Formats: sequence, C-alpha cells, structure tokens
Amino acid sequence: MDTYRAPDTLQIHPSILYFGTPVVLITTRNPDGSANITPMSSAWALADRVTIGLTGGGQGLANLLRERECVLNLASEAMQASVECLAPTSGADPVPRWKRNYRHVADKFALAGWHALPSLRVNAPRIGEAPLQLEARLLHAAKRPLEAWRGDAGGYYTLELEVCAVHAHADIVVPGSSHIDPRRYRPLFYVFRHYHGIGASLGRTFKAEV
Ligand SMILES: Cc1cc2nc3c(=O)[nH]c(=O)nc-3n(C[C@H](O)[C@H](O)[C@H](O)COP(=O)(O)O)c2cc1C
Repeated sequence: MDTYRAPDTLQIHPSILYFGTPVVLITTRNPDGSANITPMSSAWALADRVTIGLTGGGQGLANLLRERECVLNLASEAMQASVECLAPTSGADPVPRWKRNYRHVADKFALAGWHALPSLRVNAPRIGEAPLQLEARLLHAAKRPLEAWRGDAGGYYTLELEVCAVHAHADIVVPGSSHIDPRRYRPLFYVFRHYHGIGASLGRTFKAEV
C-alpha cells in the first residue's frame, strides 16, 4: 500500500522569485570608452545562446542596447565579497530615481579590486578574476512592462545573446579538452537574495563529458 504523505504546503506571495541562478557580471563599454560592471543573475543558457533579464534604467542595459555586445563573466564563490561591494552601485549618473540606497560608481573595477583584460571579439573587457568569461553579441532585445513590481523602473528587457568566444581559467578545464571540470569550477549562486556556493556534487547525468 502507498503510504506517501505529501509535505504540508502554504500558498505564499513572495516579493521576488529568485529561485537560484549563477551570478553573472556583465561588462559593457560606457559612451566614454570606460568599462562598467553589472552584477545580475536572471540568465539561462541553451547551446551558444544566453538569454538575460535586466530591469530598465541601468547603465549596463543602456550600454548593451547601444553597443550590442558585452562579456558575461561568471562569478566564482571567491568573488562574493567584491560582488556585494558592487551591489548597491550603478554606473548610471544620476542613479535612477527608483533605486533608493544606490550610489553612482564610475570605476567598478577599482571598487571590486578586479582586473580588466582585453577581449578578442568585442570591445568590452573581460574580468580576469572570473573563471569563465563569455564574449557575446546582442541578437534580440524586447521591452516588457513590469507594472506589478517597480512600476517606475521603465519595465524590463529580455535580451538574447550569442556567445562568440569562451575563455576559461586553465585550472577548471580538463587538460587537452574544451570541457569544464565541474569538480573545480566553483560558481557563485544567488538564491532568494542570499549568496550560495555549489556544495558537494550529487552525481552526473548520462550525458556528462567528464
Ligand atoms: C547578485 C545580484 C544579482 C542581480 N540580478 C539582477 C538581474 O538579474 N537583473 C537586473 O536587472 N538586476 C539585477 N541586479 C541588480 C543590478 O546589479 C543593479 O540594478 C545595478 O545597479 C545595475 O548596475 P548598472 O546600472 O551599472 O548596470 C542584481 C544585483 C546583484 C548584486
């Protein structure tokens, strides 16, 4: 006889639905040629495409829409403290009215203590400290209304990017291959506004390459 007892559930109304995605640091070029860093986590990948979501009013979004290219730098667990230093900042000057408790920072590389490296295919720099750096070009941008949350943010954008070059720290690559070794790659995750590491491995899929 089936003795399964379903866990108790509650219907809730959370203010956000950040159920856990990697922290991506988007580097873009400002109009004056300097670099901006936008921490974000609403991103998913399929083949060589990455789709991201950005709320309106940010400097990274404006740069991406204008230059149509960027680098998606995947943050590691070791980068958490610097990511949080960048969290209450914006490259936009003035900071959008609805971003209370944010301040403008022109040089986010200096604030985070990271190093900019030139890219191969795009003008935005890579972040040397990030274990994975994906150079990407913008294929498609769509503006969506977002009345239920921050109605004054100018909505949000979904942006579809095509990755055109992948750089990985050598120590996370299986020697002699193009495979990332998940035992060595330690991505930083954003889970309901808390940072988490990857934890222990629970196994692999039948399609795993290493
Ligand atoms: C860990 C983390 C994840 C974030 N995820 C997103 C996101 O997915 N989309 C978004 O629009 N903003 C996200 N933000 C907020 C932006 O970083 C914030 O709006 C910032 O001011 C943008 O900087 P910019 O104006 O220089 O581009 C996130 C911030 C942090 C710290």
